[in-house]
Amino acid sequence: MHRTIALTGTLLLGVGMALAQTPQEQVDKTQLAMKSNLTGAIALSDMARDKKPYDQAAVDKALAELDDVAKRFPSLFPAGIKGLKPTKGEYSASPKIWTERADFEAHAAAFVKSVGQAKANIKDVNSLKAEFPELNKQCMGCHEKFRVKG
Ligand code: HEC
Repeated sequence: MHRTIALTGTLLLGVGMALAQTPQEQVDKTQLAMKSNLTGAIALSDMARDKKPYDQAAVDKALAELDDVAKRFPSLFPAGIKGLKPTKGEYSASPKIWTERADFEAHAAAFVKSVGQAKANIKDVNSLKAEFPELNKQCMGCHEKFRVKG
């Protein structure tokens, strides 16, 4: 069962969010992409905090996934989904994503840049420890303004 869900998620991410049928489906697909950010961040954070041994392949995979979502960020939040919430979950998109679009896109661009920098610089556990806080800051900075609870 778990495997089916994970596989479906991967396929949905693979074909791209633009194929969503209805705005509600788009919201749920966007949420899936957001959750994939968390998976990547946890993989990196576990290694940065010595909870798991450093593994370059796992780092590359996590950064590739973050990069993919980062580059698609603005398109994951089209105007048609404003005001809608994921079917279930704790968080939703703030209306500011659409009323302060330029700032939202600037946050997304900063995230792309930060992931690119992490890809270029993370070679071992020490560079991971040095880079991870900067990446994490991008997550928090955007959430603070553009993600709302409920
Ligand atoms: C440019 C803005 C932005 C950046 C950068 C960003 N997020 Fe988010 N994130 C959002 C918004 C907006 C939502 C709410 C929409 C949603 O949940 O579908 C969200 C939702 C989430 C959620 C909740 C998903 C759920 O269950 O509803 C998680 C987890 C998450 N982000 C993790 C991360 C992590 C980890 C990073 C950094 C590696 C990150 N995000 C970077 C904007 C951002």
